[in-house]
Amino acid sequence: MAGTRLVLVSIISMIILLLLSSQALAREYVVGGKDGWVVKPSEDYAHWAQRNRFQVNDTLHFKYNKGIDSVVVVKKEDFDSCNANNPIQKMDDGDSVFQFPNSGLFYFITGNPNNCKNGQKLIVLVMAVRNPPPVHAAPPQLPPQKVPSAALNAPAPPPSDKSASGRVGVSVGLVLLAGFVGSVWFN
Ligand SMILES: *[C@@H]1O[C@H](CO)[C@@H](O)[C@H](O)[C@H]1NC(C)=O
Repeated sequence: MAGTRLVLVSIISMIILLLLSSQALAREYVVGGKDGWVVKPSEDYAHWAQRNRFQVNDTLHFKYNKGIDSVVVVKKEDFDSCNANNPIQKMDDGDSVFQFPNSGLFYFITGNPNNCKNGQKLIVLVMAVRNPPPVHAAPPQLPPQKVPSAALNAPAPPPSDKSASGRVGVSVGLVLLAGFVGSVWFN
């Protein structure tokens, strides 16, 4: 019945919108995926960290052999020199969860200096606000033109608020998707 379908589609849409606006959606990331916290993961940790967007309250899950390895949270200079003797926090239970308490940079190394020098170290940048990734539109193709020299010294224009429109775009997209899925399921 059309009435029932409309109600169901509306409910699904509202659930999706609620999920999008929720601030409490912390995610867990398993460091190194199925490889875990090792010297040579199949995807190196820098690459792995760069393709993820970490937020406050998200957690990192380190999996490694208890008694053999460890995770040490350190300052930048100790990260650079692989010095685990000045830890901010040390975890060695083989199955360690670290929650980001605030935004900023977090530095993790193994307690084994040789393994650290061989790449078992991780920097994570935690974002300040929970927004969908900005939508990068292709720049318009402008014909080449002379730039007046005064323009070169002018301050950059204020950035437009793309993130807000990006969020609306994602929401509308998901609502349309929900409507489509609903109409297929409940027909
Ligand atoms: C993180 O969790 C705390 C406690 O549950 C909560 O008060 C806070 O709003 C959360 N912060 C974010 C950015 O989700």
